[in-house]
Amino acid sequence: MSAAVVAVSGTGTGVGKTYVATALTLALASRGSVVAVKPYESGHGGPFGPDQRALAEASTIDVAELGLRVRCFPDAVAPPEAARRVGERVDLWSFLARFQAARARFSGMVVLELAGGIHSPFDDAHTNAAVLRALAPEHHLLVAPNRLGVLHDARATVRAARADGLIFDALVLSQTAAKGADASCDSNARALETLVHSTPIVLEHGAVTAAAATLGAAWSAGAFRRR
Ligand SMILES: Nc1ncnc2c1ncn2[C@@H]1O[C@H](COP(=O)(O)OP(=O)(O)OP(=O)(O)O)[C@@H](O)[C@H]1O
Ligand SMILES: [Mg+2]
Repeated sequence: MSAAVVAVSGTGTGVGKTYVATALTLALASRGSVVAVKPYESGHGGPFGPDQRALAEASTIDVAELGLRVRCFPDAVAPPEAARRVGERVDLWSFLARFQAARARFSGMVVLELAGGIHSPFDDAHTNAAVLRALAPEHHLLVAPNRLGVLHDARATVRAARADGLIFDALVLSQTAAKGADASCDSNARALETLVHSTPIVLEHGAVTAAAATLGAAWSAGAFRRR
């Protein structure tokens, strides 16, 4: 028994990772057990941040039940620095040990969001890319906002990831802002048609439940499968 991991990476911060991870988790929840987790979140007080809460609400099981631990830090800086400011330390090796133990015990799906982009720091010595390489997720999605500038950001991310030994199985373009604000929205997917090995999945601006239906259909059609 071993869980399949879907890593949800993004071209940066505020690009739609949690929106997509939540929608995908809702879609997967109708197919079996799924847990969505963001190990470290910054910029919020309280035991959990809004991303962690949204992911937990979409999940069919509690992260704690699987032995996973999530932390939220008050200052809006990258997790290693945010942890330091409250006298704590985040550490790749202890995260990996817990995560891989949970993965081995669980036969469902794990949807994983890391803070920031692939080159954001995970701990003082490692970026998210190192985490992703160590985990070798079964599926790896790149989320990018469907807006002006995405052609550069998506291409730069894919190229940098490749240099770091990472590949993306699917590209999800999420309409973070209401339509009409940006004339590029209707042509970005076509321009990025060949960036990864499957056609970009476009999510309109709207409720996360609508995105869940789109992502569920894409999942069933094999859009996230490794090629
Ligand atoms: N398709 C969409 N329709 C409506 N709102 C969206 C859509 N995609 C993203 N958003 C909104 O855009 C904002 C940024 O998205 P989100 O929080 O998912 O980004 P993120 O990459 O997870 O950010 P962070 O790096 O802070 O974790 C949120 O308010 C989210 O609800
Ligand atoms: Mg998020």
